[in-house]
Amino acid sequence: MKAPEPATVVVMGGTGDLMRRKLLPALYANVAAGALDPNCRVLAVARGRGVADEGFRAWAAAALAEAGLPPGPGPDAWTRERLHYQTIGAGGADDYAALARRIAALEALTPGPGDRVFYLALPPQALPAAVRGLGGAGLSRGPGWTRLVVEKPFGRDLASARALNALVHEYFEEPQVYRIDHYLGKETVQNLLVLRFANPIFETLWNRDRVASVQITVAEDVGVEDRADYYEDAGAVRDIVQNHVIQLLALVAMEVPGAFEADQIHNEKVKVLRAIRPLSAADVVYGQYAAGRIGDRDVAGYRDEPGVAPASRTETFAALRLGVQNWRWHGVPFYLRAGKRMAQRLTQIVVTFRRPPVMLFPSLHASGKIQPNALVITIQPDEGFDLAFEVKAPGAGVALQSQRLRFRYAEAFAPLPDAYETLLVDVVAGDQTLFVRADEVEAAWALLAPLLAAPPAVHVYPAGSWGPPEAARLLDSEAAWAPA
Ligand code: BG6
Repeated sequence: MKAPEPATVVVMGGTGDLMRRKLLPALYANVAAGALDPNCRVLAVARGRGVADEGFRAWAAAALAEAGLPPGPGPDAWTRERLHYQTIGAGGADDYAALARRIAALEALTPGPGDRVFYLALPPQALPAAVRGLGGAGLSRGPGWTRLVVEKPFGRDLASARALNALVHEYFEEPQVYRIDHYLGKETVQNLLVLRFANPIFETLWNRDRVASVQITVAEDVGVEDRADYYEDAGAVRDIVQNHVIQLLALVAMEVPGAFEADQIHNEKVKVLRAIRPLSAADVVYGQYAAGRIGDRDVAGYRDEPGVAPASRTETFAALRLGVQNWRWHGVPFYLRAGKRMAQRLTQIVVTFRRPPVMLFPSLHASGKIQPNALVITIQPDEGFDLAFEVKAPGAGVALQSQRLRFRYAEAFAPLPDAYETLLVDVVAGDQTLFVRADEVEAAWALLAPLLAAPPAVHVYPAGSWGPPEAARLLDSEAAWAPA
C-alpha cells in the first residue's frame, strides 16, 4: 500500500451529489482502511453561507449512513474533527482570499507539510471560474504540494477542452493536474494492463494476424435519471464515449509501454488515439430510447423524462466503428457501443479471434460455422473474464461445441474497492497513472470532432433493447453485437 500522507482535501462543490454519493464515502473508507492518514482534513466548499462545521458534519453523517457506512467500527474521531465547511459565496476574489485563510488556519491545527488537494466536483460551466478563483488567490502553490483534480466532462469539444487546458496551465503545472475518468479507477479496467502485459499468451495474439474484431460495450439500464439539465446538452458521446469508452479502447489497443510509469502509459495511449482513422457519418449510428420495459418495469421514453425537451434530438445511444491505422491493428474493426436504458447494465470488451483458415470439423452451431475463439472481459457488473473455445461434444463422430474458461473477481477476491477510493489515494500519493493527461483528453475530443460538427440522424429504440437495429449495419458480415 502507498504511504499515507496528511493532506487537506478541499472539495469545491462540497455539498453536491458527487460528494454525497462517492467522494465522502471513499474518503471515509480510505481513512478507515489506513490508506489515507487520519489527519487528512476535508474542507467542503459550496455557496451556502452561514453553514458551520457542525452543520456540514450532520450532512456528512447522513451521506455516510446512506452509503451504508460505517459497516463496523469506523473512524469516529475523524468524522467529528476533520470535516469542515467554508462558503465560497458569490465566488469573488474576497471569497477565495477567505478560503485561503481558512485552509491556512486548518493547517495550523495539525503540524504537517501543508499538502493540498483541490477537487473540482463542479458542473462543467463552473470549472473556469473555480480555476481562476483558486489561481488568483495564489492557491495553486502552497507550503507543501498542491494538486488539482478535475471531474469529467473536460470541455465539450476540442476547442473548449484546449481552452480549459490553457486556463488550468496558467496557474497549475501539468504534474499537478489530475483529470478524473472514474473508469480508470475500476479494478477491472486497471487489470486490462495486467492481463495484456503480464500474460504473454494474450499479448502474442493481440494483433491483426490473430484478432478479427474488438467490441466495447458500455450499456446501462438506467435512463437519464434527474440529470436532464446536463445530459440534454451532453448526450451519450460526450457523457460516455469521449471518456470511458475511449479510455477502454486506448488500454486495449495501446502498444506496450517501456515501463509501468504514468508518462510512458499516457504516451502510448495518445499514440494509439492519434492513429485512429478519421470518423465519417457512415461509421456511426445514434439512438434515443423510447418507452419500453426494463425487467418487469414499464419505463418512459427519453422525451418524456423530466426536464427533457419534447422534441429533443440528444442521443442516448451511440455505436461507432473505428479503424486503428498502425502496424498492430490495420484492418481490424473496433466496434464501440454505449447507451442508456439498454437491456442490462453491462460493460464488456470482446476480443474475437480469427477462425481457423480451414475447417476440418463439423459444428453443432445452427450457422454450421465454427464459433471463433473470444476473450470476453467483463468490466462490470460480474467482473472477470471468459475465454471461449471449442471442444469435441462427447459421442460418436466429431462434432464441436463452444465452452468457456472463466475467471470471476468475486470468486477469487474480497469485494472490489470503489473506483473513487483508488483514485483519491493515488492523488494523495502523487501517482498520475490512472488520470488523463492534457494531450490525451484533446486527442479523444479530436477523434470525435467530425461527429460533434455534424451529428448523425437519431434512431429510436425501445427501452430495454440493445439499441436501434440500424447499429447492425456497422458490423462486417462475420461479426455480431454481443450480447444482443
Ligand atoms: C458517468 C456518466 O460518468 O458514468 C453517467 O456521467 C453514467 O451518465 C456513469 O451513468 C456510469 O458509471 P458506472 O461506474 O456506474 O458505470
